[in-house]
Amino acid sequence: MAHYRQVGDVPPKRHTQHRDPDGNLYHEELMGEEGFSSDSSLLYHRGVPSAIVDSQVWELPDQSRTPNHPLKPRHLKLHDLETGPDAVTDRRVVLGNNDVRIAYVVTGTDPSALYRNAVGDECVFVEAGSGTVETVFGVLAYRAGDYVIVPRATDHRWVPAEPSRLYAIEANSHLHPPKRYLSRFGQLLEHAPYCERDLYAPTGTLVVSTGSIDDPADVEVHVKHRTSGGIVGSRLTYATHPFDVVGWDGCLYPYTLNIEDYMPITGKIHQPPPVHQVFEGWNFVVCNFLPRKVDYHPLAIPVPYYHSNVDSDEVMFYVGGDYEARKGSGIGLGSISLHPGGHAHGPQPAAIEASLGAEYFEESAVMVDTFAPLELGEGGRAVEDPAYAWSWAGRGPDEGDSPAVFSNS
Ligand SMILES: [Fe+2]
Repeated sequence: MAHYRQVGDVPPKRHTQHRDPDGNLYHEELMGEEGFSSDSSLLYHRGVPSAIVDSQVWELPDQSRTPNHPLKPRHLKLHDLETGPDAVTDRRVVLGNNDVRIAYVVTGTDPSALYRNAVGDECVFVEAGSGTVETVFGVLAYRAGDYVIVPRATDHRWVPAEPSRLYAIEANSHLHPPKRYLSRFGQLLEHAPYCERDLYAPTGTLVVSTGSIDDPADVEVHVKHRTSGGIVGSRLTYATHPFDVVGWDGCLYPYTLNIEDYMPITGKIHQPPPVHQVFEGWNFVVCNFLPRKVDYHPLAIPVPYYHSNVDSDEVMFYVGGDYEARKGSGIGLGSISLHPGGHAHGPQPAAIEASLGAEYFEESAVMVDTFAPLELGEGGRAVEDPAYAWSWAGRGPDEGDSPAVFSNS
């Protein structure tokens, strides 16, 4: 995120004395990416940000992954997935590889654990619900349709105002807008489908009064981090509350972008998925297919051609639209489809004819394309619809019925 922001109380010159009204020095912390060679922010803490008094193992939920073998397209029904209520600790892994994991949780209304993902940036899509995300940078409001971007190692917790369905895309890397959307200095260009006005970041600081340096109180932070053996968790106990930042400035901070503020790009003939891109991480991209006018060539075929993305696995999460009209379809709201590399996919022939003359698509979906194969997490394995793989042929080893295929995928 290359857009400079300043919130709260910062000194006029960096790395100089900055004191509270009683004359005590604040503790300056630099959060920076790629060593000291990329975006960073400077935060001014009341307490010492490194003062821990304990560290214990946090046993993460089942992180196991099962290869997609034998190779099949998959349909996972997330609305059948039951989870605990904590927005962080009760996430269930649906799909993943060594670059990104997709997890899902249906929250209650209690605040989540305090959390720091030291593995990578998170992009949490809010399928339903609203509330706030409290962070060391301040508070973000969230609502349905938001992408909540939380940079690696940002202390935060989710505070749902109502039960919320959260689709967590957890990167092992950083997330940012596609480089082709950006000027060489980082401004979003005119052809980008969203701009700086659409990004919402904290506008004020969040300072928790208890657990200050004058009033020590042990505060536990759940930290997800890396080892040579994979992703693990630790519970670090701090002498003071991490939400003690009186001011910060820089180009690294959490923010939200809502799909209603994403302006779809349309064409005279079918536009390929890259025009629908939102973010990119290392070895994967995030796109969204949103309600829009469709192709206006007189002989246009609005649904996609069959495509074999030989280098990618493609994950669609169906979040809006009139799926009730698709009686007999395996795909519905809350569904995930996984179309793996090595297998061509596209619409059923009947869907092609049915689309001719269409002027508008109502459906909404969030897509993740990965360059490395995805494996099934335990949550994905729990809610798989085994009939989906045979939907194009109309029959499989069990002679099952054929569900339809989403028009945009
Ligand atoms: Fe596709």
